[in-house]
Amino acid sequence: MHAEAPVRSVTYVSRAATPLTQTSLEALLLESRANNELSGLTGMLAVRGDDFFQVVEGPEAGISALLASLRRDPRHTDMRILNEETVPFRQFPDWRMRCERLDDYPVDSIPGIDAMGGGDDASADTRTRGVLDLVRWLQARAARALSERHPSAAS
Ligand SMILES: Cc1cc2nc3c(=O)[nH]c(=O)nc-3n(C[C@H](O)[C@H](O)[C@H](O)COP(=O)(O)O)c2cc1C
Repeated sequence: MHAEAPVRSVTYVSRAATPLTQTSLEALLLESRANNELSGLTGMLAVRGDDFFQVVEGPEAGISALLASLRRDPRHTDMRILNEETVPFRQFPDWRMRCERLDDYPVDSIPGIDAMGGGDDASADTRTRGVLDLVRWLQARAARALSERHPSAAS
């Protein structure tokens, strides 16, 4: 992607309002990717059980509109913003909305995984570090997935 102005990046957690099925998740991703393509948003959605952890990034207007939509979306609840900032580069530039299901990973093998789910008892510092760790881990996996898809991009 060519150079662009700094982008707005928001990370939040929430929980599916009703038990999440593969079908409902796929429908959500199809809708999100089509919308994000139009509004210039990129990002990633991590899912573990019924817990969501999402990073969305892009132009300020698109992000504000999405946040308003997310806040009234009955498919999830307990939405909590973990981080909101303007960043010089996108963290997931190649993904209209990458999705990663984390159910099969042993909990303690994922850095910052406590940032998902309850986790209100952690101090603000610990939580911020956890969010950064988890985003970095997800970014590394996204980069690996991309290089496996396009081997020439790996060098
Ligand atoms: C966990 C979760 C993640 C979502 N991610 C996106 C997204 O990345 N992009 C998007 O356009 N909509 C996303 N949505 C759907 C929005 O909440 C909303 O339904 C959609 O943007 C349509 O907005 P509207 O109902 O205001 O027209 C997501 C919904 C949920 C529950």
